[in-house]
Amino acid sequence: MEKEPIAENIQNEKDPTKMLSLVSHKLKTPLSIINGYSEAILSQSSKEKFSPFTAKALEEINKQGTKLCNLVDKLLFFNKVVSLQAKDLAKKTLNLKNIIKTSANDAIAQDEEIATVSAGSTVAKKGTFIEIDCPSNLEIKADEELMGFLLEELLSNAIKFNNKAEKIIKVQCAHHGDSISISVRDYGAGIRPQDVNKIFENFYQVDDYFTGQIDGWGLGLTMVKKILELHGGSISVISDRGLGSIFTVSLPVE
Ligand SMILES: Nc1ncnc2c1ncn2[C@@H]1O[C@H](COP(=O)(O)OP(=O)(O)OP(=O)(O)O)[C@@H](O)[C@H]1O
Ligand SMILES: [Mg+2]
Repeated sequence: MEKEPIAENIQNEKDPTKMLSLVSHKLKTPLSIINGYSEAILSQSSKEKFSPFTAKALEEINKQGTKLCNLVDKLLFFNKVVSLQAKDLAKKTLNLKNIIKTSANDAIAQDEEIATVSAGSTVAKKGTFIEIDCPSNLEIKADEELMGFLLEELLSNAIKFNNKAEKIIKVQCAHHGDSISISVRDYGAGIRPQDVNKIFENFYQVDDYFTGQIDGWGLGLTMVKKILELHGGSISVISDRGLGSIFTVSLPVE
């Protein structure tokens, strides 16, 4: 059987970053087909035609396919972020409160449980509240896509590693001389002291036993750290198992 060109590329590829990119692209094509077809069947045919089992199976195929697609997209984005250099940043002046609001909406939209519940009538029961305390005129000079990703990542972690029925997340921004701090506080699972430094390593996830559920690669915080390095910023964490976490980002104003 003749090899596809991409398979040859993977075999000859010595650079792990390029290898990851080739593998991710290869996974994307069949996944898009699975998702496309399952979506088309679900939207075109009236669901009454299916047995309850078939309807549930189709929904699950679509849900898991979408999840896999998001995982592959994150892997591709990781690949892009790790190879970026400061000169590649598309820096511009951004209103901090606006970008936090957009990221908060995106992080909430990602949460499957909230999305399902908000379609019904029990939003209060599964409520997630992101309170933003940020002066309206605060500006930063940063790459919009990367900064949006960074904030969304911290917020989606605060939602994801949180088993509370009511999830309260507090974002606080402050201006100190030539730097700006953004802290994201949650009252969720928290992190044990021995894990706090490891969470910024590639593919590191704290044991599932402690956090309740795990979705993702363990790559989000590696990217957050890299994005901050590119912008001349830093991140620190204060956390306690069972009490929650505070992730504080520090960024130069310029
Ligand atoms: N707010 C938080 N509360 C408790 N644990 C957290 C929090 N944020 C991160 N962690 C822990 O740190 C680990 C690494 O986080 P990271 O964002 O890098 O990966 P992930 O969210 O598991 O996967 P990915 O971001 O790739 O989707 C998580 O798996 C989790 O165990
Ligand atoms: Mg994450």
